[in-house]
Amino acid sequence: MWADQSAIGRDAETGGYTRGGWTPSEREATAWFLDQCATRDLTVESDGIGNLIAWWDPRGTDLGHPPSGRGVVTGSHLDSVIDGGAFDGPLGVVSALAAVDQLRRDGFTPSVPIGVGAFVEEEGSRFGMPCLGSRVAAGVLTAEKALALTDRQGVSLARALEAAGTDPAGVGPSPLLERMGTFVELHVEQGRGLTAPVGVASSIWPHGRYRFTFEGEANHAGTTLMEDRHDPMLTYAMTALAANKQARLAGARATFGRLSIEPNGTNAVPSKVIAWLDARAADDATLESLLAAITRQAVERAERDGTTVAVVPESVSPIVDFPVGLRDRLVGVLDGAPVLPTGAGHDAGVFSAAGIPTAMLFVRNPTGISHSPAEYAEEDDCLAGVEALAAVLKDLAQ
Ligand code: GLV
Ligand code: MN
Ligand code: MN
Ligand code: MN
Repeated sequence: MWADQSAIGRDAETGGYTRGGWTPSEREATAWFLDQCATRDLTVESDGIGNLIAWWDPRGTDLGHPPSGRGVVTGSHLDSVIDGGAFDGPLGVVSALAAVDQLRRDGFTPSVPIGVGAFVEEEGSRFGMPCLGSRVAAGVLTAEKALALTDRQGVSLARALEAAGTDPAGVGPSPLLERMGTFVELHVEQGRGLTAPVGVASSIWPHGRYRFTFEGEANHAGTTLMEDRHDPMLTYAMTALAANKQARLAGARATFGRLSIEPNGTNAVPSKVIAWLDARAADDATLESLLAAITRQAVERAERDGTTVAVVPESVSPIVDFPVGLRDRLVGVLDGAPVLPTGAGHDAGVFSAAGIPTAMLFVRNPTGISHSPAEYAEEDDCLAGVEALAAVLKDLAQ
């Protein structure tokens, strides 16, 4: 099953995956998922933006088909960052299907439906908004704002949905959430925080994406004296250095991973640089003061360079502390698995903030490399993840 989907959207040269929301590769991965659900005779429900939950409900006549009661849902996402790894997302979906297979083989009959979820555009790699599908489903991002988001080609989400055969009018808070009694997301750990094969999440660090727009004056690279320039690239570069220093001082993270430069010519001082900051910290106050410090230094530097800078938050997610009772229940089922926080964002965080009892399982990532073609997890650890997930589902759905 793993191998069937692991070719989809894979770049032959880098070995990385690019599955932006509603692109052909992501649609192919979704078609693969629907096919897997059909093979297993799961009942698939979709919401307006395209989040999917496939239900295993052996007592279908009691609970209704699709199930009307609240179920235990597990799953993750099939989209990826640009040139990402094989595991971030698909591991949670494949493991969910494999765990259902295992429970069936074991002859287990759940007393509530078990759902396998695949949530759209979790990475925000196409439309810039992380956890786009779950945020819209939970009503924390309005349909109006979501549909107006654009990709790098200027295509709006509304147009992308239409092109995929989905009516944008259906986008909004999702009835699927009413069916989610509990949510458990299994995910590759993405750091070097886990030395055992499987762990349980305690919290998700607060994180945000902020758009910095630096503006200056385009000019000739050969004739303009260094003293006469108003170079927004220089302001950006000094801001990137400041961000790195401030994040180190705060024990936090600051990354400028995406830039847009105008006119983007080798022999011209740029007129404009847009840089996206991804900032994360262990608590909300530290994240706030980190952003304030970076912004202050950007403004000071812009004054020196005769440029300007404007900072716009695009998405900010406060800390998520997963419910301790549920977390400890998972730890108990898994004989004392380690508990750890994560600096990565997940749909599980959105669902938890929306009040759905939520937990996460992590599978060891020995290299600590993620959001890269080099992302890696051992097969034995992935199998241990499936075992653990099956045990947790059994406990929650007995
Ligand atoms: C998503 O994986 C993120 O944390 O950026
Ligand atoms: Mn990711
Ligand atoms: Mn992920
Ligand atoms: Mn993520």
